[in-house]
Amino acid sequence: MFSLVFKYTGRYKTAAILTPILMILEVLFDVLIPFVMSRIIDVGVNGADGADISYIIRMGLVMVALSMCAMVSGGLAGYTSATASSGFVYNIRMAMFKKINTYSFANIERFEVPSLVTRLTRDMRMLRMAYIAIVRQLFRAPINLFFSALMVYRIDRSLAVIFWVAIPVLALGLFLIAYNAHPRFKVLMKKYDDMNGKLEENFIAVRVVKTFVREKFEINKFKNTSENVRDFQRKAERIVLLNDPLFNLVMYSCMIAVSWLGGNYIINGMMSVGEFMSYLSYLKQILFSLMMMSSIMMQIVMAQASVDRAKEVLNEVVDITDDESDESLVLKDGSVRFENVSFAYSKDAQKMTLSDVNLQIASGETVGIVGSTGSGKTTLVQLIPRLYDVTKGNVIVGGHNVKDYRLENLRKDIGVVLQKNVLFSGTIKENLLWGNENAAFEEIVAAAEVAQAHDFIMSFPEGYQTELGQGGVNVSGGQKQRLTIARALLKNPKIIILDDSTSAVDTDTDKRIRQALKEKLSEMTVIIIAQRIASVMDADKIIVLEDGRITDIGTHEKLLEINEVYADLYHTQLKGVSE
Ligand SMILES: Nc1ncnc2c1ncn2[C@@H]1O[C@H](COP(=O)(O)OP(=O)(O)OP(=O)(O)O)[C@@H](O)[C@H]1O
Ligand SMILES: [Mg+2]
Repeated sequence: MFSLVFKYTGRYKTAAILTPILMILEVLFDVLIPFVMSRIIDVGVNGADGADISYIIRMGLVMVALSMCAMVSGGLAGYTSATASSGFVYNIRMAMFKKINTYSFANIERFEVPSLVTRLTRDMRMLRMAYIAIVRQLFRAPINLFFSALMVYRIDRSLAVIFWVAIPVLALGLFLIAYNAHPRFKVLMKKYDDMNGKLEENFIAVRVVKTFVREKFEINKFKNTSENVRDFQRKAERIVLLNDPLFNLVMYSCMIAVSWLGGNYIINGMMSVGEFMSYLSYLKQILFSLMMMSSIMMQIVMAQASVDRAKEVLNEVVDITDDESDESLVLKDGSVRFENVSFAYSKDAQKMTLSDVNLQIASGETVGIVGSTGSGKTTLVQLIPRLYDVTKGNVIVGGHNVKDYRLENLRKDIGVVLQKNVLFSGTIKENLLWGNENAAFEEIVAAAEVAQAHDFIMSFPEGYQTELGQGGVNVSGGQKQRLTIARALLKNPKIIILDDSTSAVDTDTDKRIRQALKEKLSEMTVIIIAQRIASVMDADKIIVLEDGRITDIGTHEKLLEINEVYADLYHTQLKGVSE
């Protein structure tokens, strides 16, 4: 916890330092009050010459002033601690978010999205609470303890032995609680991840849930994870709550012991009533500080699981970086070469997703990739913009190994329309500008025309200013695909990869997109993955993938002759069309 505190307090240092100072001031004022009170009783009320009203009033005013000061410092401390703690959490959350944005797909898959969401929200709340406890109480409680103990000592030392028994008992109890609570909070946070996962899945798939009328099932599923959270929360907090009875036990034992011993002292004339009264107040303060210290401990224990989880995000080794890249290197053309490439999604995978892929694409060529689902088409093209790193072999793009480029330079020149693509909330124009934020309106229109999106965009009353819902829910599947193609084209890339990007577009429009690409952007290397043979048959060459291996590469005519799978596919699809 403390390593994070030091690292991420940042520019909220002033508030973070002021808080304990104000808290200490509050303590000093608080500590003086019982002292003044004992003077009122012993000098003002029970003084040698009877009651001294003016002394009582004067001291009473001093007491009022002291408590005002204590209140003001306490109030200010509340303000500064709120500033410091929200600032601290803001800093660490931003650091985590920035780090997550450097993650590769593989890094994100390791954490899973819902867990990242929990880590940025729920875990941050735990950190904030612990942080408040630290800045407010970490100094205050020991100092309060110290001064109160000093006052107690001043009044009578023999009673102090009570504390020498009480403190170790408390400490041992706290240790046991902390030791048992930590693992439970770890599990609890994991349960929150699960719950967020279920939530996210349900909300994203709400249309599917409705079409399958699976609401009841989903509610039950959520009920389970929700119950899990409830139960584990109870289990974890139950332990922490043991702190209260433990503390009360110790406190009341101390009070009883002091009252009994102190009562005897008064009877024997060894202590005055005023001294005894202030002794009791100081005793309360001592116990209160002990309680505060134990509650900081509990907060830190509860937050420790969250601290670990935040650190995991911050310390994750990003597996695709451009540390060894040449900063000035840019793609000189749109050529692509795979040299003995093998790839597996995880290190301990039994089977390679791609095996021994060799492939040469010249700049400006149009290349089709076909193969049954799961054969590795998407996986293959994802290696070109280095969304994943190869397990074996080399991927050479634009004359250099992809690892030699800065990721930014590499990806700037490669337009990818992913199979699972999304648009963002905002207008159509804003979405297209993702490709190139400085594009002029004519360029936007030109890209939309190639992607055959211009006409339907103009058919909306607000044209390019039409608002898209989150994820682009208010356009049709085929329209969305064309918008994502236009967005990729606006980058004016040297290579464009269309992964099943026209699957929801009718054959006629599909054809017009390919024609426009060829006529208007003949310099560009175009890689098209498609289920429809018609989408790739006029490509310069077609790659047939099967089970992660390239079985044949050739033109449509050649493949019809030599590749049985391809020929079969073609004839069944053709038959479908002629019928
Ligand atoms: N992120 C991932 N992590 C682990 N395995 C994956 C991942 N993505 C795909 N796979 C696996 O890799 C194999 C190839 O998947 P890929 O997506 O490349 O197939 P594809 O040819 O594009 O299929 P489709 O035509 O259905 O899009 C599949 O067996 C799939 O289960
Ligand atoms: Mg795919």
